[in-house]
Amino acid sequence: MTDTGIQPTTSSAPSFPSDRTCPYQPPTGHQDLAARGPLTRVTLYDGRGVWLVTGHAEARALLTDPRVSSDRQNPAFPVLAPRAENQASVVIPLLGVDDPEHARQRRMLIPRFSLKRAAAMRPRIQNIVDGLIDTMLAKGNSAELVSAYALPVPSMVICTLLGVPYDDHDFFEACSRRMLAAPTAAEATAARDDLRDYLHRLVDRKKAEPGDGLLDELIADRLADGQLDRDELVMMVLLLLVAGHETTSNMIALGVYTLLEHPDELAALRAEPGLMPTAVEELLRFLSIADGLIRVATEDIEIGGRTVRTGDGIMIGTSVVNRDTAAYADPDALDVRRSARHHVAFGYGVHQCLGQNLARAEMEIALSALFTRIPGLRLAVAPDEVPVKPGDTLQGLFALPVAW
Ligand code: HEM
Repeated sequence: MTDTGIQPTTSSAPSFPSDRTCPYQPPTGHQDLAARGPLTRVTLYDGRGVWLVTGHAEARALLTDPRVSSDRQNPAFPVLAPRAENQASVVIPLLGVDDPEHARQRRMLIPRFSLKRAAAMRPRIQNIVDGLIDTMLAKGNSAELVSAYALPVPSMVICTLLGVPYDDHDFFEACSRRMLAAPTAAEATAARDDLRDYLHRLVDRKKAEPGDGLLDELIADRLADGQLDRDELVMMVLLLLVAGHETTSNMIALGVYTLLEHPDELAALRAEPGLMPTAVEELLRFLSIADGLIRVATEDIEIGGRTVRTGDGIMIGTSVVNRDTAAYADPDALDVRRSARHHVAFGYGVHQCLGQNLARAEMEIALSALFTRIPGLRLAVAPDEVPVKPGDTLQGLFALPVAW
């Protein structure tokens, strides 16, 4: 029994998550689960039974339901992998808190992530992308695209936005990789603490010598007058730094792979470059890289013919939700002309991705420039030799060998 009085259940339901075999398809096991109805029981690695939501309407209803919480301090909050067993040891701003705290934090950041701000970043993003392609072309006729392109694009962009020196990218990228892939909670905590210590040192440096990034603004506007305390500020920037590069880099690499594997769709896009924003939306739906949004019920909820009880864990399986036939015709087909805008690849409700405008701009520019400037781009290995990330983390590719 936990100190909330909630009894964690153990379960014999199918295990969740499984690994993808094809990088752009949901794991086969997940599609079988969707056939059981919009909400079904699954078992996490620790034996705990939780609800898996696979219906599109049910997912959107739950993600906007105030009886559903993101509070990782709640002892009943599900743990997706051993590395997350430390999740209650610090408060993760935004992602890990509920309103009113969540709304207070989000209000501080929203102006910097508006559509207008993302549009203003476009020339800088184009500049970054062009420079990286110049370097790849100068080096020869092949590259490992994750390290040469998919990772540095969002990493450089988020550094510019936050005012974090890109010179430190090897360090913060390694910390963030360790956090997201660590086999144990102790290793994930150590990586998070390394990154947190680094950001504390950066705050000191910036107080002595201010720059013009979001971190500098937050120090001047919010830290100085006590609206944010220093730990909260550092954890907020840590979240933005990690979320800002890990997600988009996976989308760029997986987006390139998926388009190369769908030559007709790529040809349609090349013939009509104005389709790119629609294609990016469709890739977000189709790939659903944040596959498993986690919540806990704080009251009983009747939904989809089932009763979710107080303290029940809830997983929103975005890859299957985004392939719900009730929401999309022929959902397993990649269709760059489809209007996929109501997908839940960025989540939905109050926690919907803060960086979505920026992420869209990055993906549009990165994919357009790559396929325009390197028309002969192709995989340098067989499609099934490309290493795919495991199911319990952000979905993506460890490496993407390409040639032209
Ligand atoms: C294609 C790239 C991206 C994808 C697929 C993605 C996906 C998501 C998803 C699914 C959520 C909701 C999580 C939940 O409800 O539990 C989320 C939240 C968030 N994302 Fe993104 N994201 C992307 C890019 C970015 C970027 C570039 C940034 C920052 C610059 C960012 C910052 C955040 C933040 C701060 C939150 C928490 C928002 C809140 O709780 O209010 N994301 N993202």
